[in-house]
Amino acid sequence: MALLFSDASYRSDKLFSLLQERMPDADLRKFPDIGNPEDIEYAIIWRPEPGSLQHLPNLKAIFATSAGVDALIHDTTLPHVPIVRNTDPALAHGVAEYVLYHVLRLHRYFDRYEQQQTTHSWQQHPQNDPRKSVVGIMGLGEVGSAVAQVLHKMHFTVRGWSRTEKHLEGIETFAGPEQFETFLSTCRVLVNVLPLTDATAGILNTALFQKLLKGAHVINVGRGGHMVEADILAALDSGQLSGATLDVFATEPLPEDSPLWSHPQITITPHIASLTNYDNIVRNIEQQIECFEAGQPLQHVVNRERQY
Ligand code: NDP
Ligand code: OXD
Repeated sequence: MALLFSDASYRSDKLFSLLQERMPDADLRKFPDIGNPEDIEYAIIWRPEPGSLQHLPNLKAIFATSAGVDALIHDTTLPHVPIVRNTDPALAHGVAEYVLYHVLRLHRYFDRYEQQQTTHSWQQHPQNDPRKSVVGIMGLGEVGSAVAQVLHKMHFTVRGWSRTEKHLEGIETFAGPEQFETFLSTCRVLVNVLPLTDATAGILNTALFQKLLKGAHVINVGRGGHMVEADILAALDSGQLSGATLDVFATEPLPEDSPLWSHPQITITPHIASLTNYDNIVRNIEQQIECFEAGQPLQHVVNRERQY
């Protein structure tokens, strides 16, 4: 049994080396050096080379090392085998750490203290009650619910929005387009953890920003395709947004000449809200293959119609 690794992204070599290190006994092949296509029974991908998974007559399943599968779902050459995505709790925990850090940075004015140090300025800012600060989470799945719970534990008032109704202790939840505006209306910080689908593409736009409290801050850890970059810049310029923390971009790495890099109210990180834990993912893939070969169903299979 051979496993094909396919990734067209800037991370490709690093990810393949990590897999080789963690799966020393596996017959691991990297696209385009696939050998005999008939040997390939499983594929492991991040952002696969388009078309790289077609013409594999014995392919049984595709394992994404990411939670998001937007990079492959539109590939019309994709064989009709199950796609398993990464639901490792460590991935969700990493995003929760990232969001907590940035929410606290704003809440306790650490961004201002960093600035003040550059001018040797000794000035104290208020220590506000977190319960009076509403943080909204768009997406309450594996990752969004972990983010919501961590913020709730830190006493923030947390609201969450999803496609279908959810019940999460201590979190005020909203569902569907009809409750979207009410959900947004009191948010001081808005965190996007949605999957990128036809229904969510471009959702971070002017119309949405206008529904937030004036001077709100947006944290995007979903996908770059969720943001209309020009609308973010316009909302910052008008004061509708006071800042944006961006981890994901339509083009990654973010091009050197992007105006986002040098905007004083934008914080940029290089898609690191959470990094895949290769020990966990390899263990999961090995276990899933073993169970599947023994006739049991695969877990965490993507619903292709919903695109996540
Ligand atoms: P899940 O599939 O577990 O959860 C997705 C959530 O989004 C669900 O609550 C779902 O609602 C909701 N949702 C989907 N479509 C809509 C819609 N049209 N309207 C309202 N709600 C919607 O995904 P994960 O939590 O595992 O991951 C989410 C995304 O986070 C990934 O797709 C990826 O893009 C991003 N991510 C980014 C990382 C980073 O390092 N920057 C790391 C990990 C993930 P419902 O439950 O009702 O279906
Ligand atoms: C993911 C990601 O989807 O890292 O897992 O963005």
